[in-house]
Amino acid sequence: MKTIIEPFRIKSVEPIRFTNVAERQGFLKKAHYNLFALKSDDVIIDLLTDSGTSAMSAAQWGAIMNGDESYAGSPSFGRFEAAVRDLMDFSHIIPTHQGRAAEAILFSLIGGKGKAIPSNTHFDTTRGNIEGSGATAHDLVIAEGRDPENLHPFKGNMDLEKLEAFLNEHGAAVPCVMITITNNAGGGQPVSLANIKETAKIAHAHNVPFIIDACRFAENAWFIKQREKGQGDRSIKSIVRDMFSEADGMTMSAKKDAFANIGGWLALNDDQLAQKARTRLIQTEGFPTYGGLAGRDLDAIALGLKEIIDEDYLRYRVRTNEYIVERLDRMGVPVVKPAGGHAVFIDARAWLSHIEPLQYPGQALAVALYELGGIRSCEIGTVMFGRAPDGSESPAAMDLVRLAMPRRVYTQSHADYIVEVFEEIVAIKDQLRGYEIVEEPPMMRHFTAKFAPLAK
Ligand code: F0G
Repeated sequence: MKTIIEPFRIKSVEPIRFTNVAERQGFLKKAHYNLFALKSDDVIIDLLTDSGTSAMSAAQWGAIMNGDESYAGSPSFGRFEAAVRDLMDFSHIIPTHQGRAAEAILFSLIGGKGKAIPSNTHFDTTRGNIEGSGATAHDLVIAEGRDPENLHPFKGNMDLEKLEAFLNEHGAAVPCVMITITNNAGGGQPVSLANIKETAKIAHAHNVPFIIDACRFAENAWFIKQREKGQGDRSIKSIVRDMFSEADGMTMSAKKDAFANIGGWLALNDDQLAQKARTRLIQTEGFPTYGGLAGRDLDAIALGLKEIIDEDYLRYRVRTNEYIVERLDRMGVPVVKPAGGHAVFIDARAWLSHIEPLQYPGQALAVALYELGGIRSCEIGTVMFGRAPDGSESPAAMDLVRLAMPRRVYTQSHADYIVEVFEEIVAIKDQLRGYEIVEEPPMMRHFTAKFAPLAK
């Protein structure tokens, strides 16, 4: 069959409240043109994030009733730990309430002033936690990964030469090498198995631990199976196990590729570091068998990890994004190609070339998508990454707008609606204006900054 259908039926629904353009203009003004400040009831299609927004399965909701809420030694923890270890065989699996809590614990222990941490591309919270500890965060993705038009199959790959040079230069100041799979900030692009292994090898040759930020590991494994030579006949599970086989640890947000609404973990092989991490966990998150989660959340994650590696699901998942990318591409909207795993990324800098990067073309497009169609997206560009810790501002590598797809939530007609809203924007895009920031916090400004539209 040509049509790749949603591999599920819908048992339970959430109504969508429709709003009109005039109402949305009012909501935007009240939100100071920051889409994070909108009420989700006022959004028609919410593509702000794929994080924590998944539809859980009937089996997961059932498992929730079996959750055991004991403070210590809950069987829910046992099921969670076994499910993680079945895919990622680390010695220590430490639950946290979400991914950034795992990052905060890790970098409070290995970060700090004078340290330098490379990755293909750090996500915003990872960068925030590294910089918050006093260390510096460095993005060493391959050059193709910064070219939205380039069709390289693994645009999330680490630039191995740059990594080698980085380690030669910074040596002892590097507490770990990280890699983000898939590369969220770089367009949801995958990292090849060969690149993961080479990165591990280079890190280990310099006696530096290798840590994977694994939020979208299943999507990454699907791309490996589809695109990497010699991987097509393997099961997703065996690819996943292989991806993690040379890593010394991982940080994870279960809000992505574990189909959970909350949760995460830090996994480590180093016994001493794990002991320190658990002590920190008890201070900040909770006892090591629940780490800031309810027992029922641990059960939802345990089942989600089994469901996420299903090939029918992953085929449909990636196809949804390709479907939208193909249509936008035909309309002449510059999109990041190939389609990413969890999202569609629009190259706002190229499309709205009349708006300077420091007037935030991504923000202008994200606001227009909401105003015209009630679609909430997320700027991943100069608003998110343009302010350096020293206070200076410069354009980010790219100005993208991300349409992140919640898992198992929207159908093909929602996708068709999204494409239709873009058709409207095609007609008026040259009239869109840039923005200025009128108020911002010193770090991670995109969450709370206030904007004002620039005069024509
Ligand atoms: N690492 C990556 C690559 C992420 O995409 C995220 C979250 C995190 C770490 C932190 O995980 O949210 O559970 O604390 N990304 C979300 C997003 C928020 O919208 O891309 P968390």
